[in-house]
Amino acid sequence: DWKMDSFVKDTIESLRAKIGDGKVLCALSGGVDSSVAAVLLSKAIGKQLTCVFVDHGLLRKNEGDEVEAVFGPDGPYDLNFIRVNAQDRFYSKLAGVTEPEAKRKIIGEEFIRVFEEEAKKIGAVDFLVQGTIYPDVIESGLDKSAVIKSHHNVGGLPDYVDFKEIVEPLRLLFKDEVRKAGLELGIPEYLVFRQPFPGPGLGIRIIGEVTAEKVKIVQDADAIYREEIAKAGLDRSLGQYFAALTNMRSVGCMGDFRTYDYAVALRAVNTTDFMTADCSEIPFEVLQKVMNRIINEVKGVNRVMYDLTSKPPGTIEFE
Ligand code: XMP
Repeated sequence: DWKMDSFVKDTIESLRAKIGDGKVLCALSGGVDSSVAAVLLSKAIGKQLTCVFVDHGLLRKNEGDEVEAVFGPDGPYDLNFIRVNAQDRFYSKLAGVTEPEAKRKIIGEEFIRVFEEEAKKIGAVDFLVQGTIYPDVIESGLDKSAVIKSHHNVGGLPDYVDFKEIVEPLRLLFKDEVRKAGLELGIPEYLVFRQPFPGPGLGIRIIGEVTAEKVKIVQDADAIYREEIAKAGLDRSLGQYFAALTNMRSVGCMGDFRTYDYAVALRAVNTTDFMTADCSEIPFEVLQKVMNRIINEVKGVNRVMYDLTSKPPGTIEFE
């Protein structure tokens, strides 16, 4: 793609000119925006960049290791990658908390605290990288659910870290252009075409209290769901799809035994802008296969439901 090819070249040059020999810090989430921003920066200024990846224990199954495999020291990029395993910190802060906004606030604040501690270890930073893309700017003003629910990762970070300036290399790009730039930079397709994943992660896909046990249940159920969706060839045609753990337990039977276990909800939506969305018509046999596998493979689950709600009145996430 010649247009992206020149975007990448021009951006690398202008980043070099802007940053000079300054020190740059980037919060890497593994999402497409921060990944593309980080790789651009690394191509532009190499060792002056440090990327911090906070594993808050609310990522999807194996996600932390997958991000580390691509962006860590054994991967193809030179990012000065620092992984912070902060699972226990987040779980203990979340213990006993059930109210959705309180959970978001705790996750957002703890994230900032962890990031801030890492930034202090790195020392004086000149530039902070933000993966802001063009629609972020508009969306935060228009999407009502963004006001109804606090989006912790929009605008929270900069105040907490000592730096001189923000760099936003993707500020003028739409999502499909960010993906093209990612491919141009050689980032693996499964990361480039990753579906959106919220900053508070599985914390808002577990209704009620978050515990390590519930995280494991929702990770396993979600991994099965994603695997079957990919096998059915549906992964690129759905807007967003995931499993959530309802806080409901109900009676079931397994062999000769009575069970009293959790219900998993499957969600899949099609959307153009994430401000409104419709439930996706997933073929019934795919849903049945997913249900069978979750019931058989995930301990603690005895019921699987499919969420038919559109947005509005629902939201895409559960909290
Ligand atoms: P809702 O649930 O508000 O989601 O309909 C709309 C889109 O935004 C994502 N989302 C978030 N993203 N931090 C994020 O980075 C958040 O706190 C957050 N809450 C929702 C959601 O995954 C969907 O793509």
